[in-house]
Order: sequence, then C-alpha cells, then structure tokens
Amino acid sequence: MPFQVNRIHPLFFAEVVGLDLRQELSEAMRSAVTAAIDTHGVLVFRDQAIDDEQQLRFSSYFGQPQRSITLQRQNLERRLQREELSDISNVDEHGFPLGVDHPRRLYALTTKLWHTDSSFRKPSGKYTFLCAKSLPEQGGNTEFADMRAAWDALSPQKQQVLRTLQVQHSLAFSRSLIPGSPPLDEAERRSFVPCVQPLVRVHPGSGRPGLYLASHAERIVGLPDDKSRQLLDELMAFATRPEFVHAHVWRPGDLLMWDNRCTMHRAMPFDETKYVRELRRTTVAEELHEPGTS
Ligand SMILES: [Fe+2]
Repeated sequence: MPFQVNRIHPLFFAEVVGLDLRQELSEAMRSAVTAAIDTHGVLVFRDQAIDDEQQLRFSSYFGQPQRSITLQRQNLERRLQREELSDISNVDEHGFPLGVDHPRRLYALTTKLWHTDSSFRKPSGKYTFLCAKSLPEQGGNTEFADMRAAWDALSPQKQQVLRTLQVQHSLAFSRSLIPGSPPLDEAERRSFVPCVQPLVRVHPGSGRPGLYLASHAERIVGLPDDKSRQLLDELMAFATRPEFVHAHVWRPGDLLMWDNRCTMHRAMPFDETKYVRELRRTTVAEELHEPGTS
C-alpha cells in the first residue's frame, strides 16, 4: 500500500495518511484507494490543501461528477462557478453566516436527516467527496452509518423478506419531513421524478449486501402505506443504532470520501449564527449497469 490506512471505527471508516491529492494519482494509486473504500466505506484523507480543480480531478478518477442539484433551483444564487461543485456552507458572498431564513440555508435543511446522496435520482450517487474549507469551533460533525454492518446484524429470516423489496425514493418526500424546508419548485419537479431502488444492494466492490435507505425513501412498492412506513421507520432506526454509527469530527485539511451504496450520513448542528462552516462537495454517479442498481 503506497499510503497508510488506519481503521477508526470497529466496523468501518478509515483514515488515510501520506497521500497528497495535489498530485495526479497513478492507476496503481487509484486502485489502492478503490480497494480501501471498498473495505472501509468511508475514508478521511488527512492534511489536504487542495483547490476546487484538484478536488474535481480526484473525484473524476472514480466516476462522472454529477451537476449540483442546486442548479435546478431557480431562486438560489450560487457562489461557485463549476457546476459539479456544491457549496455546503452557511456563508454569504461577504464571508458572513447566512441569515436563518436565507433560501440556501433552508434548502440545505434535509442534509440533517439520515440519507444517501442522490438516491432519489438515477444514476444515483456512487461516491461523495467533501472537503473542509472553514470549520466551526464547536459542532458541525458529519455522522455516518454502516449499512453493510446493519444488514449483517439482521436475522436470516428478516434478510430473506427484505431482499425482494423495492423502494420509491423522492426528494419531495424528504423535503416534506422538515418544517421550513422549501417544497420542490416546478423545475425541480421536472428534474427529480421519484425513482425506485432495491432495498438491499450487493456492494459490487466487496460482494457484501447492505441496506439501501435514506430519508428520501418514501414507500415500499406494493405494501399498504401504513405497513410501508412502519417497516421503513423500523429499518432506519435499526440501521442508525449507535453501534453502526461513527461521528466524524472535522479537522482542518480533511477530505472525506464515502460510498453512498453502503453508508448513510447526516450533518450535525452547530451555532449557525455564530460560526462559519464551509465545505465543498462533489459526487460522482454510479454506472447504471452496476449490479444491484435496478
Ligand atoms: Fe449528503
């Protein structure tokens, strides 16, 4: 291994030390990163001082970067030029915290719910990359849940039932869960039509099955609404039990890379009136022919 990989949590999540992402990566290095993320699900690359172009180049090694979903929102001004970059921040154009009712802040409220990126669209998100630019003195962690470990902990009987189920995912649904979160506008409704995903996916890199869940999961196809909701709530609660969760406490220079096909995540609160928190996100799409994608 041309760099050091240290497992941080007993089940998943590792730290990568000794890799400089300002440099281009050879095929061998890219393969080593893929092997590491297949095993650990989430990687934190420490001590990176990369710019937006270097983040995009690194992301592109692992798939096609998706355009930011904020481009569909007509009343949302963007600070970043590149369409593949999402501005995960509470920072206005002058560098100050956004007001509590600023559209960009309201738009981001759903990131506080457990989710996988882009499960409501096809192709869905494969890997997400999140780079720290400014961090609050307190709070603002990102939590992750290991969906392969959650699957492993289910009884064989339960697994057998779940394997056959399909789930409708919808951005309109997850937005409806948080008071103050704006409903989809017309352009978003056209772009983000609900889509159906398998409830259980076999992770192509590791061969391990995992639950594929998110707050975007609206209903299980073919089940009555009450039974569907009950089962989804039960599975979300099970998959986010403390033993499956790791809270990432950000350090300056951190770049996180996670696999949306086998993890969930959520943003934790911080004092948004007092502190600035600024991160850059890129997400690469999974290939539609991948096993387990339909
Ligand atoms: Fe996310």
